[in-house]
Amino acid sequence: MLENKRVLVVDDNPDIIGALTDFLELNGCKIFAATSGREAIDIVKQTDIEVALLDVRLPDINGVSLLDILKKEDPTIAVIMMTGYSTHKDIIDAMKKGASDFLLKPFEYDNLIMVMIRALRERALMLDREKFSKSLEDKKKIEILNRELQGKIQELTTMYNISTKFNALNIYDDVYEKTVNIAKDVLGACLCRFYLYDAATKEAILFKEKKDEGVNEEYILKPNEMPNGLNTGKRCYIKDDMLTVPIVIKGETIGFLFVKKTKNSIEFGSNQLEKDVFFLKIIGEQASSQIENRILYESLFESVFMTHMSLITAINKRDSYTENHCKRVTEMSLTLADKIGLNSLEKDILRVVGPIHDLGKIGIPDAILLKPEKLTPEEYTIMKSHSTLGEEILSRFEILSRESMIIRAHHERFDGRGYPDGKSGNNIPVCARILAVCDTFDAMTTDRPYRKALTVEDALMEIERCAGTQFDPDIAVMFIKMIKNGNYGT
Ligand SMILES: [Fe+2]
Repeated sequence: MLENKRVLVVDDNPDIIGALTDFLELNGCKIFAATSGREAIDIVKQTDIEVALLDVRLPDINGVSLLDILKKEDPTIAVIMMTGYSTHKDIIDAMKKGASDFLLKPFEYDNLIMVMIRALRERALMLDREKFSKSLEDKKKIEILNRELQGKIQELTTMYNISTKFNALNIYDDVYEKTVNIAKDVLGACLCRFYLYDAATKEAILFKEKKDEGVNEEYILKPNEMPNGLNTGKRCYIKDDMLTVPIVIKGETIGFLFVKKTKNSIEFGSNQLEKDVFFLKIIGEQASSQIENRILYESLFESVFMTHMSLITAINKRDSYTENHCKRVTEMSLTLADKIGLNSLEKDILRVVGPIHDLGKIGIPDAILLKPEKLTPEEYTIMKSHSTLGEEILSRFEILSRESMIIRAHHERFDGRGYPDGKSGNNIPVCARILAVCDTFDAMTTDRPYRKALTVEDALMEIERCAGTQFDPDIAVMFIKMIKNGNYGT
């Protein structure tokens, strides 16, 4: 039972060491012997000792003190104290410091074996307990790490959601309103406001607001309470259950995002505040960047649009018919789009394309464009190229790529016999299908040098006749209804 056990024997009497060594080696133990406390400490430092037999009286150190040192070095060593004479105090001291047992010399070797076996069992139990408590400790550490990891995942998910919500905004969305909604949702606030900042008067003007019913506004931060430090850009202002971050573009504060937390969700003073500030700052930064993009887009769009209006003016100077025709086509297209239920994006495309749908005519020679007689087939081929020419001119402006496609397609026919691509049905963009009906109707009801205008009734009959061939049948029906209802007439 003591097979291969590593045993330290410490006694200043070499005879005792010799006798114990002989006996224990016979029982299969591996013996390490020391005649002083110093030697014993060195052995324990270098060897994984399982049981130590310590004499209480040693030349350099008291056995009980040595026990204390060895236990500090390795708390799992089973220590058995040996002495020829001893007081109760010695025994109690030794037991308090972790001795497993006490043997009074001279002792029976059989008794020694029994004591050693018991001490080794105790040691095994201690090792198991340590192992168990270590695994418990590991478990606790893992739980803490898991919680931290979950927190990080939640934080990343929230950041991702904020970013996705802002990226999903299109140019026609109200970025201020969306910002207020996002901030309210993410922070679980009962009220969120977007204030615009007037640098001249140093006033914050309430611009957008979203709040739950019954929010007590008595404690809400008022515009004139906006802290001065906020307009320097970087700070987040916290007051009670309210947070405010500045919206900054190129170092200039253009507004403030303000939230009031609900009483239930508020855990200010804890980690939650840090997270709320962090997320509100991210929302503020995303909003700043969206607003800045819109300002750039609008100025770019305005300059592009002005360029095109100049082009249209140029074509109108050559052909006075085109100007009024384009205006009427645009108005009819927008009303029809409204009745069909097109979204704001599509209506804005029509608003841009309507006045310039014949832009390509700028490249058609006067001899053809202004010819009062019917065109020859060759001249008609050249005339038809105005849709691709228009697309070519507009496609130079990247932000008008959708509009340029409509210009290309405005002479396509529903049955696929139009130009330039012979597209049919729903493959023709809806804005082009709308323009096609309005464009043809207006051309038919206007006097041209080579023919007189048709009456509205005759023109509508022609539209009806061509529904499903030249025109989208549904759009044609809606158009006829719109004109008959008196929205438009010539
Ligand atoms: Fe045209």
